Amino acid sequence: MTTNGNSFIVPVEKESPLIFFVNGKKVIDPTPDPECTLLTYLREKLRLCGTKLGCGEGGCGACTVMLSRVDRATNSVKHLAVNACLMPVCAMHGCAVTTIEGIGSTRTRLHPVQERLAKAHGSQCGFCTPGIVMSMYALLRSMPLPSMKDLEVAFQGNLCRCTGYRPILEGYKTFTKEFSCGMGEKCCKLQSNGNDVEKNGDDKLFERSAFLPFDPSQEPIFPPELHLNSQFDAENLLFKGPRSTWYRPVELSDLLKLKSENPHGKIIVGNTEVGVEMKFKQFLYTVHINPIKVPELNEMQELEDSILFGSAVTLMDIEEYLRERIAKLPEHETRFFRCAVKMLHYFAGKQIRNVASLGGNIMTGSPISDMNPILTAACAKLKVCSLVEGRIETREVCMGPGFFTGYRKNTIQPHEVLVAIHFPKSKKDQHFVAFKQARRRDDDIAIVNAAVNVTFESNTNIVRQIYMAFGGMAPTTVMVPKTSQIMAKQKWNRVLVERVSESLCAELPLAPTAPGGMIAYRRSLVVSLFFKAYLAISQELVKSNVIEEDAIPEREQSGAAIFHTPILKSAQLFERVCVEQSTCDPIGRPKVHASAFKQATGEAIYCDDIPRHENELYLALVLSTKAHAKIVSVDESDALKQAGVHAFFSSKDITEYENKVGSVFHDEEVFASERVYCQGQVIGAIVADSQVLAQRAARLVHIKYEELTPVIITIEQAIKHKSYFPNYPQYIVQGDVATAFEEADHVYENSCRMGGQEHFYLETNACVATPRDSDEIELFCSTQNPTEVQKLVAHVLSVPCHRVVCRSKRLGGGFGGKESRSIILALPVALASYRLRRPVRCMLDRDEDMMTTGTRHPFLFKYKVGFTKEGLITACDIECYNNAGCSMDLSFSVLDRAMNHFENCYRIPNVKVAGWVCRTNLPSNTAFRGFGGPQGMFAAEHIVRDVARIVGKDYLDIMQMNFYKTGDYTHYNQKLENFPIEKCFTDCLNQSEFHKKRLAIEEFNKKNRWRKRGIALVPTKYGIAFGAMHLNQAGALINIYGDGSVLLSHGGVEIGQGLHTKMIQCCARALGIPTELIHIAETATDKVPNTSPTAASVGSDINGMAVLDACEKLNQRLKPIREANPKATWQECISKAYFDRISLSASGFYKMPDVGDDPKTNPNARTYNYFTNGVGVSVVEIDCLTGDHQVLSTDIVMDIGSSLNPAIDIGQIEGAFMQGYGLFVLEELIYSPQGALYSRGPGMYKLPGFADIPGEFNVSLLTGAPNPRAVYSSKAVGEPPLFIGSTVFFAIKQAIAAARAERGLSITFELDAPATAARIRMACQDEFTDLIEQPSPGTYTPWNVVP
Ligand SMILES: Cc1cc2nc3c(=O)[nH]c(=O)nc-3n(C[C@H](O)[C@H](O)[C@H](O)COP(=O)(O)OP(=O)(O)OC[C@H]3O[C@@H](n4cnc5c(N)ncnc54)[C@H](O)[C@@H]3O)c2cc1C
Ligand code: FES
Ligand code: FES
Repeated sequence: MTTNGNSFIVPVEKESPLIFFVNGKKVIDPTPDPECTLLTYLREKLRLCGTKLGCGEGGCGACTVMLSRVDRATNSVKHLAVNACLMPVCAMHGCAVTTIEGIGSTRTRLHPVQERLAKAHGSQCGFCTPGIVMSMYALLRSMPLPSMKDLEVAFQGNLCRCTGYRPILEGYKTFTKEFSCGMGEKCCKLQSNGNDVEKNGDDKLFERSAFLPFDPSQEPIFPPELHLNSQFDAENLLFKGPRSTWYRPVELSDLLKLKSENPHGKIIVGNTEVGVEMKFKQFLYTVHINPIKVPELNEMQELEDSILFGSAVTLMDIEEYLRERIAKLPEHETRFFRCAVKMLHYFAGKQIRNVASLGGNIMTGSPISDMNPILTAACAKLKVCSLVEGRIETREVCMGPGFFTGYRKNTIQPHEVLVAIHFPKSKKDQHFVAFKQARRRDDDIAIVNAAVNVTFESNTNIVRQIYMAFGGMAPTTVMVPKTSQIMAKQKWNRVLVERVSESLCAELPLAPTAPGGMIAYRRSLVVSLFFKAYLAISQELVKSNVIEEDAIPEREQSGAAIFHTPILKSAQLFERVCVEQSTCDPIGRPKVHASAFKQATGEAIYCDDIPRHENELYLALVLSTKAHAKIVSVDESDALKQAGVHAFFSSKDITEYENKVGSVFHDEEVFASERVYCQGQVIGAIVADSQVLAQRAARLVHIKYEELTPVIITIEQAIKHKSYFPNYPQYIVQGDVATAFEEADHVYENSCRMGGQEHFYLETNACVATPRDSDEIELFCSTQNPTEVQKLVAHVLSVPCHRVVCRSKRLGGGFGGKESRSIILALPVALASYRLRRPVRCMLDRDEDMMTTGTRHPFLFKYKVGFTKEGLITACDIECYNNAGCSMDLSFSVLDRAMNHFENCYRIPNVKVAGWVCRTNLPSNTAFRGFGGPQGMFAAEHIVRDVARIVGKDYLDIMQMNFYKTGDYTHYNQKLENFPIEKCFTDCLNQSEFHKKRLAIEEFNKKNRWRKRGIALVPTKYGIAFGAMHLNQAGALINIYGDGSVLLSHGGVEIGQGLHTKMIQCCARALGIPTELIHIAETATDKVPNTSPTAASVGSDINGMAVLDACEKLNQRLKPIREANPKATWQECISKAYFDRISLSASGFYKMPDVGDDPKTNPNARTYNYFTNGVGVSVVEIDCLTGDHQVLSTDIVMDIGSSLNPAIDIGQIEGAFMQGYGLFVLEELIYSPQGALYSRGPGMYKLPGFADIPGEFNVSLLTGAPNPRAVYSSKAVGEPPLFIGSTVFFAIKQAIAAARAERGLSITFELDAPATAARIRMACQDEFTDLIEQPSPGTYTPWNVVP
């Protein structure tokens, strides 16, 4: 079709102002910058800092806001959750944006969405909270009574690293259909929280009847001005920024004209591809063309043989429209639509699907696109238009063979525009299926995906025509014409499967060096996914009576299925406080986190939310791009020439002594001087007027390197090169190992290996430094260790510590990652600020944070174990290696803890433990929740299972036989007092119905060939104390003011773990006052000096005792007044004390008694103050064909003494479990052989999401187990439960063993942690994996290596 071009309206030449509304207020910006995102605009221009930056790439949901716009066709308003970090602010014209600040506040009224999340204990560090609240709010705005399924979809794009998700879902369940009933306010679920806890009559974690009612009619209205004035959507727009121009044409002709004049102008619809390219690949697009108001690109229309979707229609709208048509059209016409809907569920998260277009997906042409394989297999027709000599030309393009011409290239030309896509209606004998396998099921890009479109001869199983397309196997989506040809005219049966599998392997080869790695897995997925498709289509043929019901054996049927997220069931059991306890005594009660309400309203301030100073500068780090090299030259001249750039700092700006820093040993440099030892090492820092300028200039600092060898990345390479830190190996020896081996019935040798883990705190490292007086500096820093920052800043600036103050208000998570590594950023920021005499700020981007700050230590264990024929372990000789990276940091302590925990709960009388700290060319690895403990215990659990297998016994019996008993000594000579593991073990077996489940699993496994289940129990024993004795001390300061209010300060940092809440509870009980009178403002080195890092789980133990000490002093001083005036209120007593000139300020101090391991100086010496114990059981199901899995249930019994706050403690247990599950199963660090980190953001690094929590998740706190060695009989809880995450690993291993046993393979096999989908699949060897030949190691350089 062609049209006369003369009638085109020329796009406006005049610039327009950007007009939109934020929280009901009109924003008019005459000069918006097309490169600016909505998030930057909200945070920096409007100072609405409730919306957080977690990743900048659409992968975490911290930046979620609600976008509302008028659908002029229906005259209705649409409310959408979107990622502000990817949304260009220019796209907001005519829209209303609602941020967390717009829905409620602690100063006015909380919105029920905010209140329920906080009261249900769904906010720990709170950094994810505004995003989660806004996802829920946006859902309720468009669907006032959603289902649990709607909730699942709403949260696909949100991550939380702290809570384990259960409490969030529990709080929000109260908004769902499933929760409400016709009884309204009288509903029994409002009287109790509807789970097992209430049924047992125990206390509740929260009271649902106290929730504010939700009334959807009370929400703010959409701005009438936007509703009434259709001009907002009807006019062409032009915004000119400093580097790029934004056009919004409203007619197709204008769009085509723009494209013909600017063939390389970028069409931007959802910006979910382009935004990432601009931010992380630094692509500059000078022309942005936003076509979302062009009617032809927004069309949705049912035609006779297809449905036509405009290319700018969002994926969510496509899904909705397809669902409607599926409900109405005959089933056989909708098979392609169903396939598309299923695929769309697993396409990104809801925030992305709300804005991303199908056109954007096709045109990006990513080889792992999810929609391209199904559209290609369907040979979908595309409508493509362009302007040729002033006329619109339209052509039809088929997405079938030949459409993709190369990596991200297709046959559509740069001057053309993809206008619409036809989704074909299927025919009676036609079937479509598609599968996607990713690292994580929800919100992840595919590893491999496949789509099959087969048409049979009428009413037969003879293939007439078949199209198959695969993603993830080549630089483009690929088809397999040769295999399709083989299949033509053949019967759809197992004989065909065999031929096809072989042909697919030949037609889709993959070089061993191919980008993306996982070569054998990807190749076997091709055949496995085809086999799944075979099973699924066969089932359809059975349904339509084309083939016999028994054509597919019943045991194979479940192989066709995929996992669906189960609806959560949970119970939390804890000890209720005794009836005599005063109601105002908060100890032992499930008090809400002290900042939860502020966190839920976005009012809680994190480091980067601190308002900018007038003359503030921004710092950007210049990082090494080589893992091991000599720095030949550093040339900053180009960077310094840029307008707005103020300075460059490097090693030349400080003395050699000042440049040398480190947590314990000063073996690192603030700025690399002569050599670099890892990629991501800091070489310098640029300081400029803004983040954008600083980062651009940092890229203009030219560094010449001379590469050095060897580059050591893995533990095995370190062993080969004997690359260890000095003084290693270290040993712990107990008993006589050699004799014990001689006497043992069995001696067995094995090894196990586990990977590292990225902390992925939602708030990246941030720091703001402000010069005070001429020689003073103040830092606001997201650190777990303010004292160390203070000390090292003083060192670098050559000033005494008393001139440096470091403050931490709260952290958006830390998990050990901000214990010693925050100095990487804090020291350059402090130096720049001090030298330039101006405030300087930096918050690392997610990729910078991940590239520079190190991870949990990967570990390798090689062990030799001796045991009796009954299974009693008598000796163990174990070698432990950790991958420390390029500096010592805390690696020696991490190794020590691993060496101390390698035996977990089992007594081994003769032990030799040797440990090596491997020096590699990776960023320095560091503390991470568990601190080597989980790695050590991982070895123990392998040992116990090996022993059980060899003696042919149940591993539960071997565990019990070897459990420590009270009074036993560990291999480092610590006597175990009140060791409760047997009790936890029995309780957990009962709670989880272990034996019953195990029998059911055996039955299930017999009945299913391609699905297997496994169950595993794991105990844990975690030693509580810092390994470095001097750190086991703490201080507190209490100031009571004349009005009776109490300002409490202590040495611990609030990282989300609820430390401040617990300290307030302790202080309230000790002073006998309500918690409301007590406030904690921050942690600061000028309030409490010489603090220990908030780490090792002892935050409450040590700071709590220091708080009690201060309270005791104040109580002593107030005693005479209280005794003389027994009826006086607290305020009256304080007033009297003031007038009596009694000091109302007291400091407290605590040192943990007896810790340290030198029995000569202290006969009571103990390595750890005590142990926290627990037992967990998990049940999993795996898909043997893909390696996918689902955790069906988890039960945990923890002994945490007398809980100070069961809500917080259960939150810690659930959060730690999920983090442990991530460590052992999901999370994989991916490095190149040259030490470049590929997994630099949530796109590639997958933490557990909402959909990953166990289907049933029960946590019990062991009752009647007070701990005499910590504050108010409590126990530390932060780290100990993490290891219970390994229950999932061991259950998976068991399920794999079942699959292997069925095929007659050995059940002794290696499975490294994490047990990723790739590892699971490849361990389930079968006829499909047998087809894949593995290249011999050493004959090629792989794309990635395992550190
Ligand atoms: C967190 C995250 C998760 C993701 N998950 C997935 C996933 O699971 N599966 C998957 O397949 N993809 C995924 N993606 C990729 C991306 O979301 C999709 O490709 C999306 O469909 C792109 O649409 P868009 O409208 O945002 O494209 P944009 O970024 O606006 O544009 C993308 C490209 O298409 C071009 N383009 C757009 N429309 C037209 C047109 N009409 N004519 C010509 N050219 C056009 C643009 O010029 C640009 O080059 C993900 C992205 C993110 C950020
Ligand atoms: S910050 Fe936007 S999704 Fe992570
Ligand atoms: S509370 Fe969710 S990330 Fe911390």
